Amino acid sequence: VGVQQAQGPKVVITAGPTREPIDPVRYISNHSSGKMGYALAAAAQALGCQVTLVSGPTQLACPSGVTRVDVESAEQMLAACLSEVAQTDIFIAAAAVADYRLAEVAVHKLKKDQSQQGLTLNLVENPDIVATIAQHQQRPALVVGFAAETQKVQAYALAKLQRKGLDMMIANDVSNPEIGFHSDHNAVTLITKDRQQAFDIQSKKELAHQLMTEILQAYTNQESL
Ligand code: PMT
Repeated sequence: VGVQQAQGPKVVITAGPTREPIDPVRYISNHSSGKMGYALAAAAQALGCQVTLVSGPTQLACPSGVTRVDVESAEQMLAACLSEVAQTDIFIAAAAVADYRLAEVAVHKLKKDQSQQGLTLNLVENPDIVATIAQHQQRPALVVGFAAETQKVQAYALAKLQRKGLDMMIANDVSNPEIGFHSDHNAVTLITKDRQQAFDIQSKKELAHQLMTEILQAYTNQESL
């Protein structure tokens, strides 16, 4: 009693890196801190949405009022997203998912090769989580991706939007160390098939609030079609 329940759309957000195990003590990963995805989750919650954060390993605390599902690998992240898909209205993929995983994870710690031949890891492609959700029978009304690019940012992001079947892409130029991975700040371009809108460098928290406002507007407009 007295606790207000969020009544707005159900939003699922992926955040952070994935970890692809090599053996019991080693993994392949990337520099995503989760800050962008967590800031979006907090903003969506503040705007009245029911939010589930599907998070790879991060150092961050779960924003209050948000449900967090912890995962490690891309396959676990996909399974967690698929188990929510039927109830999801808006899906936002801010995670930096590893594109590849080990073909076979070693059961025991790999031993250093005494023959000095080096070590070759055999990698296979991971499933594309946001594309799988966008092409699902129970597709959420709005599917939003992030694009991390180091060159031709807008053009590559638009191509990714089309290839993955998304409604909106948020492109960041990760060649700039001031923004993107790990930083507290970001600058992005919001891209749909019809328009592009630039958001200047600012804190991920402020940016997340502006982006969530745009995303909710797009969701409402779509619903009224
Ligand atoms: O976590 P931070 O330190 O705050 O950094 C934020 C960020 C830079 C990681 C974030 O803003 C960002 O850009 N996230 C997406 C990074 C990325 O993996 O981009 P991509 O261009 O490789 O992938 C495009 C889209 O497909 C993304 O929405 C990604 O989540 C999704 N994807 C990619 C591969 C895969 N196997 N499954 C996916 O769902």
